[in-house]
Amino acid sequence: MRNIKLFDSAEHKFVLLNESEPGEEEGIRSNQYLVTHGENGVLLDPGGFGVMPSVLTELVRYINTENIRAIMLSHQDPDIVGGLSTWLELTSAPVYVSNIWLRFLPHYGIASMAQFVGVPDAGMTCNIGPGFQLQLLPAHFLHSEGQINVYDPIAKILFTGDIGAAMLPSDREYAFVDDFAAHLPYIEGFHRRYMVSNKAARLWVEAVSALDINILAPQHGPVYRGRAVADFLAWFRNLQCGVDLMTSSGHFSWEPQYE
Ligand SMILES: [Fe+2]
Ligand SMILES: [Fe+2]
Repeated sequence: MRNIKLFDSAEHKFVLLNESEPGEEEGIRSNQYLVTHGENGVLLDPGGFGVMPSVLTELVRYINTENIRAIMLSHQDPDIVGGLSTWLELTSAPVYVSNIWLRFLPHYGIASMAQFVGVPDAGMTCNIGPGFQLQLLPAHFLHSEGQINVYDPIAKILFTGDIGAAMLPSDREYAFVDDFAAHLPYIEGFHRRYMVSNKAARLWVEAVSALDINILAPQHGPVYRGRAVADFLAWFRNLQCGVDLMTSSGHFSWEPQYE
C-alpha cells in the first residue's frame, strides 16, 4: 500500500490514502481519500473493516485524528461503511450521508447516530474551516438510490464514489487512467449491470460538466486525469445500463461477464 498526492500545495492536499493492493482485503479493493487544508482534514469513504488500520496509519502522516473535521460517505455499501464504527471511536466529527440511508446505518453496529448529518437530495455545501469548502453533489441511482459525490474546488477533483470504478486484473496495475479506450474493458461490465439507467447517467454528466474538473477520483481502481476525464464522461453519458437493458425479469440484452 502507498499513498498518492493527487493535489499538493503548501496549504491544500488531496491524497489517495490507500492505493490498495491485491489480496489486501477480502472482497472488492477500495480507495480511501483524505482532503486537507492547513491542519484540518476530511476523510472520503473510509472503507471496510479490514482496511481501517492501514488507512489510519496513512492518515496520521498528514493530520492528527482530532483534526478530522468530517467524514463523507458516498453511499451505504459495506465497502464504505464497514469500518465506520471503529472510526467513530476516534473522532467526533460529523458524518455526511444521503438522507435516505440514515435509518439503515445503525445495522453496521453504530451505537449512536448523533454524529450523522443527512444530505438532502439536491446536495449541499460544507464549510469545513477557513478557506476550506467542499460541495456534496447528487449522483442518485449511480449506482445507489442515494449517492453523493464530493467536489473540491481548490484541487479541481471530483470524488465520484462508484462512478468510474474499475477492478483491474492483478497483472495489470496502474494508478492513473490516461488511455480511456484501453481502460474500458475493466469498467464496462460493472457500469452496465450496477448503474441504474441512462437517464441517471446523462443527467449526472450534464450536471458535473459545469464543473472545472482535472481529476475524477472513483472509490475503486485508478483515477482519471487529462483527456481520460472527458472521454469517460462522453462514454458514460450515452451508456445503456441497468433497466435500459432489461428484457425480462432476470435477463439483460447485454450479457455481463463475471470473473
Ligand atoms: Fe457501491
Ligand atoms: Fe464501491
